[in-house]
Amino acid sequence: VESVALLDGKRVPLAEAALAITDDGAARGDGAFESVGVWGGAPFRLDDHLRRLAASLAALRLPAPDLDLLTAEATRLVDDAAPGADAMLRVYVTAAGTRLLYVAPQPDRPAPVALIPQPAPWIRPLGTYGPAGAKSMSYAANMAATRAARADGGDDALLVALEGWVLEGPTFTVLWVADGRLHAPALDLGIVDSVSRRALLELTDLEVAEGRWILDDLARASEVVVCSAVRAVVAVRRVGEHSFGGATLVRDRLSAALDAARRGAAR
Ligand SMILES: Cc1ncc(COP(=O)(O)O)c(C=O)c1O
Repeated sequence: VESVALLDGKRVPLAEAALAITDDGAARGDGAFESVGVWGGAPFRLDDHLRRLAASLAALRLPAPDLDLLTAEATRLVDDAAPGADAMLRVYVTAAGTRLLYVAPQPDRPAPVALIPQPAPWIRPLGTYGPAGAKSMSYAANMAATRAARADGGDDALLVALEGWVLEGPTFTVLWVADGRLHAPALDLGIVDSVSRRALLELTDLEVAEGRWILDDLARASEVVVCSAVRAVVAVRRVGEHSFGGATLVRDRLSAALDAARRGAAR
């Protein structure tokens, strides 16, 4: 995988792909972005990601992006930099209208098997304010939650709403199995409309329950899993003081199905 970028259509090495400080994307985190998984040389559900990017920009009251142009640039870049390979594609569109796409190896980071609940007062239900659910370029609050969870001895955070509802991870979606059903926090909580979540809810043979649950509900789960575009389905072993031991049958099935879908898309 070659680490390379397209900055407003111009190919540059990733190390030289900089946003000017006069670009509000850099100065204020004003813009939206996507992280797309590339599997066997194919971006998985690129259209879903780019539609979500458009939805994020609309939620931030920024102009609609040129999706045909972004699709063409993303496809060209991935074909060029990661033929047949697993990689990560990032797509940024800033308030100044700057387009920055890059391809790089997938991040090599430990699986988040121990999660520490962290309050996420900035995540509010859809409809309560415009930017709810947007994947904006201002991720400092999410990253601070990860750091706080690590300081408390975990691998990462489990974000929890002011009302106590379980939401998502700072960079991943969270699902769990209870009463034989696959539980997914409802999108109207204002969480990111995860593309992996969507794929997993389509692929599962379990009945799906979407709703609002608190940590005590989650504690009754037989399995908790997390996933994102650039990682496999991970079995969570601890949330706060609560441990989840035992077999991970649902994780194993979901992981195999998602992997097949990701790699099938490459053929
Ligand atoms: C806050 C948040 N939730 C969930 C996800 C998972 O989304 P996806 O499956 O589309 O990667 C992400 C991904 O970056 C995220 O940042």
